[in-house]
Amino acid sequence: MDRILITGALGQLGVEFIKYFEKSNSFVLATDIKTPKEKLYCQFENANALDKERIDSLVKKHDINIIYHLVAILSANGEKNPFNSWKLNMDSFQNIAEISVKNKIKKVFWPSSIAIFGTESKLDFVSQNPLMNPSTMYGITKLAGEKLIEYYFNRFGLDIRSLRYPGIISTETVPGGGTTDYIIEMINAAKKGENYCCFLSENTKLPMMYIDDAIESAINLMSVNRNNLSISNSYNITGFSITPIQLLNEILSNGFKIKVDFKPDFRQQIADSWPKKINDSISTKDWGWKPKFGLKESIEATLK
Ligand code: SER
Repeated sequence: MDRILITGALGQLGVEFIKYFEKSNSFVLATDIKTPKEKLYCQFENANALDKERIDSLVKKHDINIIYHLVAILSANGEKNPFNSWKLNMDSFQNIAEISVKNKIKKVFWPSSIAIFGTESKLDFVSQNPLMNPSTMYGITKLAGEKLIEYYFNRFGLDIRSLRYPGIISTETVPGGGTTDYIIEMINAAKKGENYCCFLSENTKLPMMYIDDAIESAINLMSVNRNNLSISNSYNITGFSITPIQLLNEILSNGFKIKVDFKPDFRQQIADSWPKKINDSISTKDWGWKPKFGLKESIEATLK
């Protein structure tokens, strides 16, 4: 039986993984430094992923064999305090890796990001392994994590699987402090009948993905035989690409009224160093990746 630990469980991805596993017969222990606002169906412990002893004792106590390590400070927030961003993202990663080796954890899922790419990555259509010089501390921590995934696999046989998520569109729990957050902010403003000031310019194209696809892709990747995986760091993955003006037009064509101003801030520079489109054909080939939600379906589902 799968006995799953989720760290950062109350974040954008975590709450959706919890919902997904509710339908399975896996045991789930959710952990976060925040306290849940509502009662969760699964077990919950307040725990800081930087507290290695505590996480280790929870792993032992609950006989955990699979970990979803979702703790991270995202791109824009990371730039406000890059030292702290490195510390949280990397120290928690290292803790989970060490705990996993020592407790013989079967598999770990750890999200990477499009933030690992940089202006030299041929951003119009980014391949699996271009030049990577990330411009944000978040991107640097994700790239470092990818290197460590390979290292720990070669060194200890530790099976960490990873996807380079684009912006993820969800409404239940909003992301905190990312560069792709505008998409959810604009949609939520439209739903509330408010106007919106977009922090990216109207033609900034970025890859995105609907939350259901984000969850399902991770589950699929985690369930395939390791021998099928030709990539030993992290897989490119995408749903579709969109610009703020395209999003606005979609919102308007769905009958919502909203006025949007465009006032790019420091996040514009981050977005300009990220892919416009992602080539995820190796994910399709290795483990059958295919998004269910395209641009229209994702925006419609989110506007509902
Ligand atoms: N959504 C993330 C961010 O904007 C990218 O992985 O930081």
